[in-house]
Amino acid sequence: MKKVARSTIVVSTVIIGISAILLSNALAQRSSRGRGGEQSGSELEKPSVPKDDNERKILGILADIRATQSYRNVPPQDGRFLRITAESMNAKNVVEIGTSTGYSGIWFGMALQKTGGKLTTFEIDAQRAATARANFKRAGLADIITLVEGNAHDEIKKLKDTIDILFLDADKEGYIDYLDKLLPLVRPGGLVIAHNISPRMTDPKFMEAITTNPNLETIVRSGVGVTLKKR
Ligand SMILES: C[S@@+](CC[C@H](N)C(=O)[O-])C[C@H]1O[C@@H](n2cnc3c(N)ncnc32)[C@H](O)[C@@H]1O
Repeated sequence: MKKVARSTIVVSTVIIGISAILLSNALAQRSSRGRGGEQSGSELEKPSVPKDDNERKILGILADIRATQSYRNVPPQDGRFLRITAESMNAKNVVEIGTSTGYSGIWFGMALQKTGGKLTTFEIDAQRAATARANFKRAGLADIITLVEGNAHDEIKKLKDTIDILFLDADKEGYIDYLDKLLPLVRPGGLVIAHNISPRMTDPKFMEAITTNPNLETIVRSGVGVTLKKR
């Protein structure tokens, strides 16, 4: 091969290589941005910083649950969102459908310790209920969290108190029934927070109910539906 032809091949190969790198960088950058071209910002988050020994202990228990007893628990960023929401709303009464091993319940509990509120959480599986009870106890939250063992579709009929936050995280096809039964108890200005909201997992009847009712305002972010019951 002539010298000129060989150097043309080398130059072309270098150009193709550089183009591929530039393209993959552009795609990576695009995937960390929202649809409007803005960055989501969550990449700037840092782990929770404990304020005192009590928070340090509870954060340690949360990490332990994730490491050794995890069963379909919300991710830490959603747990932190639940705590921030409950504490900033000064929530006094939170209802959770789907306790699992108590991970999200403990995030709520951290807030409710500060607000003087309580959590009632429902779990159908006896073994997970027992694990959650033990976790609430070791986190020092047993006096503010009531775990109701059984089918939530039946058990929630006994609820009478006004609800600040209703958190749905159990059987996805059951969300519409939970909403029908408990929305009347959610106070004006209160929230319904629904986990695992996605086109694949969510019952269209539930989405219809929370997005077309003029008394409700709903957004969905990262699979979490947040519905305000308007005042
Ligand atoms: C996704 S997990 C809940 C995770 C939990 N919120 C957390 O983040 O730690 C769903 C739980 O709902 C429970 N569940 C499903 N159907 C239920 C029902 N009808 N009544 C009560 N609990 C139910 C399941 O047994 C399971 O433990």
